[in-house]
Amino acid sequence: MSTTRRGIILAGGSGTRLHPLTRGVSKQLMPIYDKPMIFYPLCVLMQAGIREIAIVTMPDQKPLFKALLGDGSQWGCQFVYVEQPRPEGIAQALVLCADFLEGHDVALILGDNVFYGHGFDEVVRKAMRQDAGATVFACHVNDPERYGVVSFDATGRAVAIDEKPPRPTSPYAVTGLYFFDAEAVGIARGLTPSARGELEITDVNRTYLEQGCLHVEVLPPGIAWLDTGTHESLFDAATYIRAVQLRQGLMVGCPEETAWRQGYIDDAQLERLAEPLKKNGYGAYLMQLIGKKRCA
Ligand code: TTP
Repeated sequence: MSTTRRGIILAGGSGTRLHPLTRGVSKQLMPIYDKPMIFYPLCVLMQAGIREIAIVTMPDQKPLFKALLGDGSQWGCQFVYVEQPRPEGIAQALVLCADFLEGHDVALILGDNVFYGHGFDEVVRKAMRQDAGATVFACHVNDPERYGVVSFDATGRAVAIDEKPPRPTSPYAVTGLYFFDAEAVGIARGLTPSARGELEITDVNRTYLEQGCLHVEVLPPGIAWLDTGTHESLFDAATYIRAVQLRQGLMVGCPEETAWRQGYIDDAQLERLAEPLKKNGYGAYLMQLIGKKRCA
């Protein structure tokens, strides 16, 4: 067990379902309403208290992610970039990031997953406290056959995980946020590629399950889990975020705000970040955060 968990964001992949949008530019750089997609999973990690984060990208896309995110210091974080030459599976990221992890526990999140809702922070905080084994989240969905599917016995204990089963035995999909102890790298190294030529994250999860150390948390119905890999789901996610933000007057997936609320940056730094953006709603929102605090 390690005291500080490190993070990995999976921002590689081929994004074929979003072609032609993603023929020249990675999916995780596409907008979800007013922000690049990767901001949303990044904020999940930052909110969990994780500040050392590896961003896994296709080699030709690395400069674009660097231009967007930098070294993370502007948000009180440290980002490193790790190339994945070919999309050979989500679990391959654990192997590619072994040097970065240096034996630390890890939270791995898919760069195209959006989580939002009351209680999500607490769910994540609980997983952060888990210092042995793995924690994954199961979400009730309409189309489980598109995902890793977890089945439970009558007592609610997870008994099986299957990748994209043609006839799912449960409506619970495993979401794209995984908390692993330091064993995960060794487990991933020991995997053989699946029939589709990928190191499957489901095989990592199944190994933990077989060892009796996989914790499966079912997300309460109030928490939205959106995956944004198709034209329809990308549009739906943008509409959803727009509706939530306009209704509440609060942003979702805003790293400047998350860094500030977490105490990674101070008011002066938030102001510096907001200044060049202040002519649009994003910068005005950041400015208003500082103003509100001063008036409180
Ligand atoms: P997927 O949506 O399963 O794959 P994809 O992004 O290549 O898209 P498509 O099926 O349309 O071709 O990937 C889920 C997330 O994981 C996504 O953010 C991309 C990322 N990923 C990697 O970074 N490396 C990989 O090898 C794979 C398979 C996915």
